[in-house]
Amino acid sequence: MSNIQYQKPRGTIDYFGYELDNLKYIEDTIKHLAFLYGYSEIRTPIFEHTEVFIRSVGQSSDIVTKEIYNFKDKGGRDIALRPEGTAGVIRAINENKLLQKQNWPLRVYYYGPIFRYERPQSGRARQFHQFGFEILNTNNIFDDVDVILLAYSVLNKLNLHKYHLDINCIGSIQTRIKWIEALKKYFANYKEELSLDSQNRLQTNPLRILDDKIDSQKDFVKNAPSIKEFLSQEEIDNFNKIKGSLDALKIPYTENLSLVRGLDYYTDLVFEFVSDLDELKGQSTFCGGGRYNNLIEELGGINAQAVGFAFGLERILIQYLTENKQNQNVHKKQYDLVLINLLEDEFASLAIAYKLRNFGFSLYFEPSIKKLNQGFKLAEYYQAKFILILGTKEIENEEIIVKNQITMQQELVKLQDLYKYLLNKING
Ligand code: HAM
Repeated sequence: MSNIQYQKPRGTIDYFGYELDNLKYIEDTIKHLAFLYGYSEIRTPIFEHTEVFIRSVGQSSDIVTKEIYNFKDKGGRDIALRPEGTAGVIRAINENKLLQKQNWPLRVYYYGPIFRYERPQSGRARQFHQFGFEILNTNNIFDDVDVILLAYSVLNKLNLHKYHLDINCIGSIQTRIKWIEALKKYFANYKEELSLDSQNRLQTNPLRILDDKIDSQKDFVKNAPSIKEFLSQEEIDNFNKIKGSLDALKIPYTENLSLVRGLDYYTDLVFEFVSDLDELKGQSTFCGGGRYNNLIEELGGINAQAVGFAFGLERILIQYLTENKQNQNVHKKQYDLVLINLLEDEFASLAIAYKLRNFGFSLYFEPSIKKLNQGFKLAEYYQAKFILILGTKEIENEEIIVKNQITMQQELVKLQDLYKYLLNKING
């Protein structure tokens, strides 16, 4: 063995074994609900022109200023690995004129890797995965409610309960400009008491001071002008309708006036599902989203409004594994058959395995394993329904031993009848 030992880049994750089994289960569950709620999949590149993200996520956002993975490609273009999913989806929808091809709102979902240069810790990676949803070309606030219902249904389906839902209304861009001006004036009086980070945000993005981990705990930040003072009557009415719908459907939520989210494109509704588990302390938001009424046009598309959200799959996985400790192994692949070959030559077993797999049975066969007790261990590991055993006597009689792993009974079955026998036992 050579001495070279490569390690994965900091902040990345290798998935295998039961964690991957559980992650795939989560993805499949979300995909199924996406279908139930009327979404179809969209796949976009994991890199885009950097400008797409700067224009959408915001010049002054942490994502753009600190976390973006961008580089010049060999043609000198400024390219970035996607730091979130929405911007690329909107670019694709505009480029392919998908909103012009359908005269009702478009529901799409996507999932895959996302990249942010952050300080890694549990629940925070540099390459992580999002499962996101967007409803495009809608200004119907019941679509806002519907996306929250979808997120809530996913969490219920995954049997997750130790979390809470925060919602807020941050108004239109015009409303926000007034709010930001008021915040700038207000925080200028407390400049010395703000962290260095917040002082920097004072001119560029004072909203972020409100949800800064340290500063948000200070009294003068808690007493800062609230968005409520600036919302128009229509914005208030719409938000009340959303809250009324959630109340009527018995979806628990908290109105959190300091929730502003870290991406600049949001307007009106913003929401986050936040874990209550210690395992996700510090990185507790596992799902976030909201309405964005200007982004489609901002990225060169038609004047159309939208709403959406994304799950962070790493955080959902931690939440799932913590809340469902007892059934971590239930998503392991289960095999119909394990075949144990006791003959010197493995060809006959290989040929039987090949035939049975062609008939559609899942069959685990490892030619190098020739001992019964090793084979039994395999059968246990792969939770086989039946074990097939081929030894000298059996091959001479053109038979095979079939052991039922539930009844523990075994029978000799003629090789020519094997397929029918198994079909009857397994699918019948
Ligand atoms: P976001 O809140 O920035 O929203 O990210 C969505 C989720 O991704 C977060 O709630 C979190 O669970 C997960 N996440 C973020 N950063 C990391 C990280 N470094 N490591 C692990 N997980 C992370 C968006 O990205 C929006 N595009 C969501 C959206 C869709 N809004 C409207 N449509």
